[in-house]
Amino acid sequence: MPVHTAIIPAAGMGTRFLPASKVVPKELVTVVDRPIIQYAVEELVRAGITNICIVTSEGKEAVTHHFTSNTKLETALREKNKHDLLEEMLKLNGLADIYSVTQNEPLGLGHAVWVAREHIQDDPFVVLLPDELLDPSENFLAEMIATYKSTSTSVIAVDEVPHESISSYGSIDPEPGTGDSMRVKALVEKPDPSVAPSDLAVIGRYVLAPEVMNILESVKPGSGGEIQLTDALAVLAERGVLVAQRYRGRRWDAGTKLGYLQATAALAFDHPELGPDFRAYLEQIQMVSTHA
Ligand code: UTP
Repeated sequence: MPVHTAIIPAAGMGTRFLPASKVVPKELVTVVDRPIIQYAVEELVRAGITNICIVTSEGKEAVTHHFTSNTKLETALREKNKHDLLEEMLKLNGLADIYSVTQNEPLGLGHAVWVAREHIQDDPFVVLLPDELLDPSENFLAEMIATYKSTSTSVIAVDEVPHESISSYGSIDPEPGTGDSMRVKALVEKPDPSVAPSDLAVIGRYVLAPEVMNILESVKPGSGGEIQLTDALAVLAERGVLVAQRYRGRRWDAGTKLGYLQATAALAFDHPELGPDFRAYLEQIQMVSTHA
């Protein structure tokens, strides 16, 4: 079964990132040299997905404008003979087939996914949360899609987090076994660490069977009055058709201030052009602080 469509939910309020996200959507905040939403789209394209539906809300329309042509800018770059930049801008416009749907009210992640249902039809689909940044040098999503194809079972990405942090995530109850793919028996959203079934946290990458849309239809609002995607995943787990795949690479929650800074530092450190000077600068300020 082909997986060629993805939903990027980007209609949230971004309260953990205020005041930066008051006017500028957090998905348009820049990490090193590109906005967070571009990392998300590039990750999908790397995994072979070019049909991308971004769920936005009123005031966040600019999130999709990042991928549309800006004729004035392109003409100016052409006239100034800035061919490399022009090429980069044209490449961005043609990166994928990107369109948006509006979530009128922030009724939760499950609701945001459901709002995009007309674009899914009867096919499996990916959900990617853009503020969870995964190492751009990896292609974990392609591995998840391969697992979906070989098991015909919905797949969610998990990462082991420090025990006290599990209360910020969904926690899975995995079937005992070996290897990085495991069947999920149950899921709990943001559990108290004392009752969390494991420290394996759900991290914002999902390859889902189309039945998830029907399940979402009947999910009742849960904590905070929101329709939770976790509640639909819990139904899959109960039916025995949910697999978790463990991610072992680098990951940053760029929707928090500290995670954003860590992503910026790590990716600037690795950047082919900026990296060497940035590393030298880090050494310099470290020396200043140790002598202070
Ligand atoms: P988050 O809770 O991480 O993002 O939701 P948020 O709501 O924007 O941020 P905080 O918690 O207030 O700081 C996970 C993802 O789901 C989307 C968000 O945009 C984010 O990508 N989302 C969440 C929606 O699209 N709609 C919603 O109603 C809720």
